[in-house]
Amino acid sequence: MVASMRPSTVIALGLLVGCATKPTATGTVCPDPDPNTLTYENFGKPFMTRYCTWCHDSHLVHSQRNGATIYHDVDTLELTLRTWQHIDEQAGIGPKAENFFMPGSQCPSVAGGPLDKNCDQPTDEERRNLAMWLACEHNRPHNFSDAGVD
Ligand code: HEC
Repeated sequence: MVASMRPSTVIALGLLVGCATKPTATGTVCPDPDPNTLTYENFGKPFMTRYCTWCHDSHLVHSQRNGATIYHDVDTLELTLRTWQHIDEQAGIGPKAENFFMPGSQCPSVAGGPLDKNCDQPTDEERRNLAMWLACEHNRPHNFSDAGVD
């Protein structure tokens, strides 16, 4: 069976080995001390805005979310941290899993609109950075009663 496969097929199967078949925690650990290189401002916010808030934005009512799970919103840091483990399991890459579940393949070109374009896909490097940023950020001190943080 394997002998009859084209070499490119065998290579493709090999690349799949690291992929999780169901959402799996990446097991990413923030170094101690936290290097503080990935921040909400320089990574988290632009990542979520480019890839996720088309569907996961707290301003979108149910019918505008294209099925995105309610209470899973990433338009502010506070909201993002509420479900950071789920985000890691859906979109992060780390030592224990490579998750490519989010974003899907079809996206709206306007937040909340119909699925009319291919989603931009994060690079593997961005997925690794996502897992690392979440692992670090959830342990940083935050004061979300301060209206300035969003
Ligand atoms: C095109 C709309 C769309 C985009 C863009 C999108 N999602 Fe989703 N998301 C969904 C849908 C639909 C579901 C529910 C179905 C499912 O779990 O596959 C979902 C579910 C989720 C869940 C919840 C899973 C759970 O624990 O129940 C998380 C977390 C999530 N998405 C994170 C993300 C992240 C992070 C991004 C950006 C990288 C993203 N999503 C981009 C539509 C979207």
